[in-house]
Amino acid sequence: MQDTGKIRVLFVCLGNICRSPLAEAVFRQLVRERGLEDYIEVDSAGTGSWHVGEPPDRRMRATAEKHGVSMEGIVARQVAPADIEEADYILVMDKDNLHDVLYYDREGRWGHKVRLFREFDPQPDTYQVPDPYYGGPEGFEEVYRIVRRTAEALLDHLIEKHRLPARVS
Ligand code: 4NP
Repeated sequence: MQDTGKIRVLFVCLGNICRSPLAEAVFRQLVRERGLEDYIEVDSAGTGSWHVGEPPDRRMRATAEKHGVSMEGIVARQVAPADIEEADYILVMDKDNLHDVLYYDREGRWGHKVRLFREFDPQPDTYQVPDPYYGGPEGFEEVYRIVRRTAEALLDHLIEKHRLPARVS
């Protein structure tokens, strides 16, 4: 990511084909709805490399589309140390992701920016977004519900914290 002066939000999961690209797509849509595209930049990446270059999982895409969210144009990539340095908010889906991302921060300089995404969830449960990859369709729906309400709460937090001129949605 180049330094554009915007608040840079990076979502991270394992494969970058299910949870974090959904969070990217949902959050980007919310940012657009609130008229904040000039203030917030959204991206996602995975800690693993298996799916690099692939589009999001078709089951995740289908679930997103059902809810009116497009995942068009998202391509899986692996998180790099520069991402940790350059992003302002690194929101990870589970505790394994947290561990793996912090591994890139050996000198402990960026840890304050790395948070469990569900810290912002009003109903945080385990504080982790369950990995839907090996499960059935209900898992993808559950991920959608969690991501949707957490993304809304995250955006409200950023609007308040950074005093962003949000449109009322
Ligand atoms: P994600 O889901 O981390 O939400 O993108 C997964 C995708 C692929 C794999 C695991 C989780 N995998 O083992 O290939």
